[in-house]
Amino acid sequence: GLRTGLGVGGATLAASALWPRGLAASVSAAAPGDVVAVELVAKQRMQRILPEPAAPSPLVTYAERFPGPVIRLRKGQRLRATLVNGLDEHTSIHWHGIRLPNAEDGVPFLTQPPTKPGERHVYEFTPPDSGSFFFHPHCNTVELLGRGLAGALIVEEEGGPRFDADLVCMVKDWQLNPDGTFGTFTNDRGASRAGTFGTVSTVNGLIEPVIDVPANGDIRARLYNVDSTRVIDLRVEGAEAGGGAWIIAVDGNPLPPRPLDGWPMGPAMRLDVVFRAPKDPGKTLRLTNVYAAQPKPLAQFRAVGTALPNKRFAPRPLPAADLPVPDVKNATVVPMAFSATAVAQLFDDALLATLPFADSLCLSNKTFWAINQKSWPEGGHERLPPPITTLERGRSYVFELANLTPHLHPIHIHGYTFSVLSSDLRKVTPHHADTVLLEPKERLRVAIKADNPGDWMFHCHIIEHQDTGMMGYIRVA
Ligand code: C2O
Ligand code: CU
Repeated sequence: GLRTGLGVGGATLAASALWPRGLAASVSAAAPGDVVAVELVAKQRMQRILPEPAAPSPLVTYAERFPGPVIRLRKGQRLRATLVNGLDEHTSIHWHGIRLPNAEDGVPFLTQPPTKPGERHVYEFTPPDSGSFFFHPHCNTVELLGRGLAGALIVEEEGGPRFDADLVCMVKDWQLNPDGTFGTFTNDRGASRAGTFGTVSTVNGLIEPVIDVPANGDIRARLYNVDSTRVIDLRVEGAEAGGGAWIIAVDGNPLPPRPLDGWPMGPAMRLDVVFRAPKDPGKTLRLTNVYAAQPKPLAQFRAVGTALPNKRFAPRPLPAADLPVPDVKNATVVPMAFSATAVAQLFDDALLATLPFADSLCLSNKTFWAINQKSWPEGGHERLPPPITTLERGRSYVFELANLTPHLHPIHIHGYTFSVLSSDLRKVTPHHADTVLLEPKERLRVAIKADNPGDWMFHCHIIEHQDTGMMGYIRVA
């Protein structure tokens, strides 16, 4: 059966003290080896994001509150997740970052029939890797993710360092009018450039929340960028020990600990970090986004309870992942060029300045982006194009991701984890990731071993780019 609890050892606080700010509460099964069953009812639920006098906002969520639920599995446990479609459109659940069987990947028309309003769909798989993952729909995503349809899936590693608390921090903006209603999630001008930004920034759906952490404890925070558009670069400021937070995992994949001081996160990217909470109860640390010119405070971590015994702060690595190792030397190189279409170039800044009605321009062709000169056809997944490329099962491949645009693109592959090799623009720390942030004009080399057969989506995770052409799929056969 299911129980709600901290799902993490060593924490000194009751779940109710942490819920929902730090989202320590979770769905977790009693013993490893068994099946964890969850039901996810996707539907509209009212939730307050803006303070009064604004009204609660019509979110769309999988649980009573955004960003719930947090599904926690131990490595080796099997997840059985039942999607109940309480929306008035078809949907599905994509399990972002999980190397799962293709049929469980949750892409309507490509890997499963769409789940119609009122229908149920059961997903079942055993995640092979530990880490911080998440899930979201794969159609009408601009609106549905914009309204909050996402949840966290955490697979706990076996062994490794222990933490005094284990928190989920989902960073997300909302496109809200001052009265609490949603504004428009996309417009052509945004979609053809950096994207349409939200109007209010939150962590776990709260504006600058104060998140309680055990005093003098070692805090593991799973930082998620679940925004549709914004790139963030986070800092934990004010820590006495360690100088701030240390990254211990990227997209769930362990990394030798390194300071959190310049690892920009595009939409869908995650970082697990560890930091030491202040010793004095009531003292706080700040979680800040420094990506923008003006650093933006996002949340505070406040020490509570009796200070835990003194110990040296020394971030330890997580147990190594067991990922397939691509044979880079003998790999086939696949060029992948990300470009803007001629239509998008109509939205060039200089040209826009000459057009008095630029913002109300409405083009019938909403194809602004392409991968290898091919744009995903309009209208969701109904009209499947051929794959971008077909890979031979078992062989290794190096993708040369070339960004031919002046914008950032977080590039995501389903069902696989990239080995990130090198860039022609910057020094890259070799690491594993399911989503990599391509800088303007950058060429980034990533490798995979094509061991997981099926049709796997490959796209930019700025949702408006994904929806206006920068999407395709890779066939492994
Ligand atoms: Cu989280 Cu196809 O994406
Ligand atoms: Cu993009």
